[in-house]
Amino acid sequence: MILVTGGAGFIGANFVLDWLAGCDEPVVNLDKLTYAGNLHNLSALQGNDRHVFVQGDIGDGDLLTRLLAQHRPRAVINFAAESHVDRSIHGPEDFVQTNMVGTYRLLEATRACWAALPEADRAGFRFLHVSTDEVYGTLAPAAPAFTEAHRYEPNSPYSASKAASDHLVRAWHHTYGLPVLTTNCSNNYGPYQFPEKLIPLVINNALQGKPLPIYGDGQQVRDWLYVGDHCTAIRRVLDAGQLGETYNIGGWNEMPNLRIVNTICALLDELRPDPAGPYARLITYVKDRPGHDRRYAIDARKIERELGWKPAETFETGIRKTVRWYLDHLDWVHNVTSGAYRDWVGKQYG
Ligand code: NAD
Ligand code: DAU
Repeated sequence: MILVTGGAGFIGANFVLDWLAGCDEPVVNLDKLTYAGNLHNLSALQGNDRHVFVQGDIGDGDLLTRLLAQHRPRAVINFAAESHVDRSIHGPEDFVQTNMVGTYRLLEATRACWAALPEADRAGFRFLHVSTDEVYGTLAPAAPAFTEAHRYEPNSPYSASKAASDHLVRAWHHTYGLPVLTTNCSNNYGPYQFPEKLIPLVINNALQGKPLPIYGDGQQVRDWLYVGDHCTAIRRVLDAGQLGETYNIGGWNEMPNLRIVNTICALLDELRPDPAGPYARLITYVKDRPGHDRRYAIDARKIERELGWKPAETFETGIRKTVRWYLDHLDWVHNVTSGAYRDWVGKQYG
């Protein structure tokens, strides 16, 4: 079996659902269930004995040791993290604890378990760390996209904490020989994304007739990848990645934020027209994010060349699926946008 951390969050849940739909191998899913983790994301797995859910913290070394000894996974895939840049600006502490200390504890517990395995199992074991393109910092408008060789220049508390975790993973390979793989992916979108992130936030606000907040001038550029494509890339790296290597994952979909928001508005005009007028009327410019990175772009040629992976979805197909998913799952949106979510929106947008 495999051990997945953070498998009740956006990407982790998509990964676990896809994994169990595609093969028989069981999953132990360790998740702390922070505001971002939601068992509703996994409700399709109720009664599925190939999915073992454990609520717990990757920073809890004793729990990790027990879980690893009990289940003896052949791989650990680390999705667990604090993931929202704006939250890291308001309160970096949780980011340091989970992304840095938590990854350290997970590496240490995994190393002890791996070292005690019989030779044959040790050779096949993998620790796959899921990271982000934000560790590379920001790009000038005409600069080439980030390759795996780009230097680390993180600019936010979030990206600095992810960069630190990447370095720990690298060191555990070079020093202790732990068989690690690291992936650095661009912005994901798709089902089950918490509506604090741009795309689900805009869909949710638009449907409620609320302002669609654009930070600064809206010309910041991100590369967007459909979450299902990220999951296939991770599976491919797990199966065939070279130990100690890092792989960039991206969608070849660089776009300014304003264009993303206008695309969503146009899709909603088509699929759920608002009698009050086009959704784009709700676009509202707000104060910029402090230290806002201007542009990210991913050069994903290495994973294509070496492992034969490339995205299946274009932005047009992926964003249409995504908008439809949110329209079909208003109950899910309603569930996750009560209580603590409202406190966050009040704090961030006033
Ligand atoms: P998310 O915030 O939706 O989910 C994170 C999950 O981790 C939640 O279920 C949460 O409960 C869990 N978690 C948090 N702290 C934990 C802890 N201490 N112990 C155990 N579980 C804990 O995040 P996401 O968007 O699904 O991102 C998953 C991973 O992918 C993160 O490592 C993130 O840095 C990385 N990533 C995300 C994107 C993106 O666009 N969302 C892109 C590239 C990389
Ligand atoms: O690049 C990968 C990263 O993508 C991941 O590592 C992070 O976990 C993930 O959260 C995401 O980070 P971003 O900061 O790029 O995503 P977010 O959805 O928060 O913002 C996308 C862009 O939209 C960014 O330029 C900020 C802008 N934005 C965001 C929000 C929430 C707005 O203009 N208005 C908003 O209300």
